[in-house]
Amino acid sequence: MSYIRKILEGATVLPFVRLPFVSKPLSPELQLRQDLVEYGRMLHAQGFVAATDGNLSVRMDQDRVMITPTAVSKGMMHMEDMVIVDLEGEQLSGSSRPSSEINMHLTIYRMRPEIGAVVHAHPCTATAFASAGMALDEPLCSEVVITLGAVPLAPYATTGTRELSDSLTPFIPDHNAILMANHGVVTYGTDLRQAYLRMEAVEHYAKIVLAARQLGCSRTLDEEQLEKLVAVRSTYGKNAR
Ligand code: 13P
Repeated sequence: MSYIRKILEGATVLPFVRLPFVSKPLSPELQLRQDLVEYGRMLHAQGFVAATDGNLSVRMDQDRVMITPTAVSKGMMHMEDMVIVDLEGEQLSGSSRPSSEINMHLTIYRMRPEIGAVVHAHPCTATAFASAGMALDEPLCSEVVITLGAVPLAPYATTGTRELSDSLTPFIPDHNAILMANHGVVTYGTDLRQAYLRMEAVEHYAKIVLAARQLGCSRTLDEEQLEKLVAVRSTYGKNAR
């Protein structure tokens, strides 16, 4: 039996193994499980989470959300670790407990029907802004105005509580990324890739703002410049592949 044939046959019995050149489509649920594992690894590799920090979720359909388990390293998760809950937080499957921030995730899904994924992390620079009580809402870089917009600061609330979701509620409709005072950052998007990239963008922007302030002369964009960027925003990415 040829080497390639052996690998192809292996692929049919090992659904959790991704082979580099055999693209057997996963079921939608397995694909979401794999996506959570991969984006969890990326959060960890980027240093956006340490130890068991952070959590990620995806909307499976109108009634169900898949979320990472509580108290595990988001860089070391397995597909079978994921927990499925309904929009009220009732656990439907999974042997672990769901993330302690389940209420925050569900609040975002309930308030924004178009949102398909939520990412929460503690990237160092953005979390430093959140801990210093400073929002990232100055229009300093054109790219950020186009892709992210202002990142407000929600008041402090205890992690994992209903008060934490309540503190975010006023900002959820008009923003896709929020700093959580003395805690971290939450981002969301139509899918996990967009939610994750928004987390990257927040941290990158926080580093730029910090450096500009250290240089001592941060010059914000003026009204006219902003209006032009808002016009660009409506077409940016439309033809991207
Ligand atoms: P979980 O491990 O319960 O998801 O909590 C991590 C965290 O960052 C809480 O804010």
